[in-house]
Amino acid sequence: MSAERGSERSYMGATAEESWYGADIERVVVTEEQIRDRTAELAKQVAAEYGAVPGVLLVCVLKGAVMFMADFARALGRLGPPVELEFMAISSYGQGTTSSGVVRILKDLDRDIAARHVLVVEDIVDSGLTLSWLLRYLASRSPASVEVVTLFRKPDAVKVPVPVRFVGFDIPSEFVVGYGLDYAERYREMPYVGVLKPEVYARP
Ligand code: IMP
Repeated sequence: MSAERGSERSYMGATAEESWYGADIERVVVTEEQIRDRTAELAKQVAAEYGAVPGVLLVCVLKGAVMFMADFARALGRLGPPVELEFMAISSYGQGTTSSGVVRILKDLDRDIAARHVLVVEDIVDSGLTLSWLLRYLASRSPASVEVVTLFRKPDAVKVPVPVRFVGFDIPSEFVVGYGLDYAERYREMPYVGVLKPEVYARP
């Protein structure tokens, strides 16, 4: 019993130092608790705005938004309206840390979105180039409405004005990892969001 409690405590209170990625993180930008609280607030806001519609089609942009999609959908599920989940994978970043503006569809929608209320679930809006392309793409498929909820936004980096209806956190214009966000496909499993130490980028 006490051993169980001990392991539970060490899991729940897992610090950066105890994890493999902890040594690579220079600074935590948004904590796990802040993400949880803000996700609940965003769900309340969305539920209030979509109260009158029969359902919302959540479109998750893989892979970065996968953690937020899972937590946001569950938070919204408690409040309604009913949701359906769709996934798209598009690519605008290679292995680097700056947006190319060149977007490629890696996985398209599985169903028709005509006449549906679509809510795009994004991880982060940086330059806005990816999202602006995606919104044009979705609008061409005649949905009833398209809005965006993003967990993070970097306001300084906005090159293209994109309408983002719901924003979790405005964060500084620096490259962050965690909670779905990666650097070279790593760090997505971190429960919080942080900045990497400079030496991580210097590794071969
Ligand atoms: P944008 O086209 O510059 O807005 O970039 C959007 C996409 O780039 C996001 O959906 C992320 O997948 C990725 N991205 C932007 N900023 C970061 C970051 O700080 N860390 C990790 N990925 C990022």
